Amino acid sequence: MIRTEAVDNFISHCYRPINPQMADLREKGEEEHIPIILRETEMYLESILPLINPKIILEIGAAIGYSTLFFAYTCPKASILSVERDDEMWNKAKANVRSQGKENQILIGHGDAMDLLEMLKKEGEWKADPFDLIFVDAAKGHYKDFLEMVLPLTKKGSIIICDNILMKGMTAEEKINKRYRTSIKRMRDFVDYLYKIPSSSTQVLSVGDGISITRMY
Ligand SMILES: C[S@@+](CC[C@H](N)C(=O)[O-])C[C@H]1O[C@@H](n2cnc3c(N)ncnc32)[C@H](O)[C@@H]1O
Repeated sequence: MIRTEAVDNFISHCYRPINPQMADLREKGEEEHIPIILRETEMYLESILPLINPKIILEIGAAIGYSTLFFAYTCPKASILSVERDDEMWNKAKANVRSQGKENQILIGHGDAMDLLEMLKKEGEWKADPFDLIFVDAAKGHYKDFLEMVLPLTKKGSIIICDNILMKGMTAEEKINKRYRTSIKRMRDFVDYLYKIPSSSTQVLSVGDGISITRMY
């Protein structure tokens, strides 16, 4: 795979927002330095989501609800449950979902994802069905904890996508940036863990900040 700054810029240049509301929301998010999905990641997801055709989506980490709304537009038949622990982000996500008229399709839970997952596990399946798509985009150091909790909420054919797997390349680089030593180690261990999940297959792709795609068999 060819991955240089020029290639990244070239690909990002081909980006087209899915609609004017989402163009505005991206602009706002980028202006305020909110870590919403990168353009390249969005472009990739836009091409694969119709193939996955999920009916129930779980997202961990909503921030202002950008990716959540993106899922709602690209998967119009899906019900989406997202969770956000930060008060300010949660309020913004709720307001954005409301202003884009997607309240019937999206529920933004408020609190720590681990608590929500624990609750879902206790209550059984959400909406009487396991999740078709799970998007993990929250505190990277907890990815393994999230995965351990979401695996029982999947079924054969479920897809789990995790963002920021390559951490600007640091996960793969031989020379370890000492400042990030612990996070790099945790992410490497997480990738090993993903590859070893029984009855599943995982690919790591250098799209955006790196994504992993795990398919449950
Ligand atoms: C990268 S941002 C999410 C961006 C969003 N998915 C998008 O692309 O528009 C990560 C968010 O996850 C939230 N977060 C981090 N750890 C969390 C946890 N344990 N439970 C719930 N939310 C969490 C943070 O507050 C932050 O707003």
